[in-house]
Amino acid sequence: MQSSFPLFPEAASSISSDVDLLYFFILAVSSFFAILVSAAVVCFAIKYRRRHPDDVGQDIHISIVLELVWTIIPFVLAMVMFFWGADLYFRLARPPADSMEVFVVGKQWMWKVQHPEGVREINELHVPINRNVRITLGSEDVLHDYYIPAFRVKMDAVPGKLTTMWFKATKVGTYQIFCAEYCGTQHSGMIGQVIAMEEHDYEAWLAGGRTTGTAVENGERLFTQLACITCHKTDTSGRGPVLAGVFGSSVQLMDGRKVVADENYLRESIMNPQAKIVLGYQPIMPTFQGTVSEENLLQLIAYIKTLKTPAATPAAGAPAAGQPGGQ
Ligand code: CUA
Repeated sequence: MQSSFPLFPEAASSISSDVDLLYFFILAVSSFFAILVSAAVVCFAIKYRRRHPDDVGQDIHISIVLELVWTIIPFVLAMVMFFWGADLYFRLARPPADSMEVFVVGKQWMWKVQHPEGVREINELHVPINRNVRITLGSEDVLHDYYIPAFRVKMDAVPGKLTTMWFKATKVGTYQIFCAEYCGTQHSGMIGQVIAMEEHDYEAWLAGGRTTGTAVENGERLFTQLACITCHKTDTSGRGPVLAGVFGSSVQLMDGRKVVADENYLRESIMNPQAKIVLGYQPIMPTFQGTVSEENLLQLIAYIKTLKTPAATPAAGAPAAGQPGGQ
């Protein structure tokens, strides 16, 4: 953190300078036209001012060339901004596949963080540099917004769904976290720090953290404790669908729709099971809204994501292909 009052936050992620470049481009174009238009207003007001009380203005004829010029140039500039911005947005919106995952839950008025290895922290986030980090973000109560200016990333934490963001820190250091969505009286105090560390320092920090099991282990324990296991069996004899291999697959629903089982689908199926009923099953699952905290939910999802179809084990002489369309 800087002691002076900086106009711009430090640039400490792989995308920071790209965001800044677009920002400065838009700033430069806007400034240029703002100055041009204001100067013209002042000059014309002086040059064409009324000199006599009976002055009459001249007829002005349309110049096609002038019309085209002041239409095409702004159009091209706006399109450059649009496509440049869209490209950057897509890069920000798509976490790379090799990202390590960290769970963050916003709550009035703190940020609760859980690493996959099980280490938890509050209002701090330790990350290794030069590694893609994907944040899966939830909210326990109201809208919050996880904002790390030095990384130029910002994402809403929305109650009732999960959102994601990602970054790759490039510089060791401590950077500010803000909540960027007004969320109640202590919104301004909902701040924290990202501590970006060298890989080996991060590993050492992880090893020193107290854990009560990894996120997956906790999820597995909850899966038994909450009796999910009585209906979601490993074979099709259960009253609920088999969960092995469900994550990332396409699920056929009773109402004819087909949906991809992503994190939000799993979340909804736990909190609001009646919303999407899988074809061939009864709508008998109770809701776990109020029973399962947002953090526990993330652990359950982490566990369900690890459940793979047994077909993946290499069986001697077995045909290489799995079920048709199976994934
Ligand atoms: Cu949380 Cu503002």
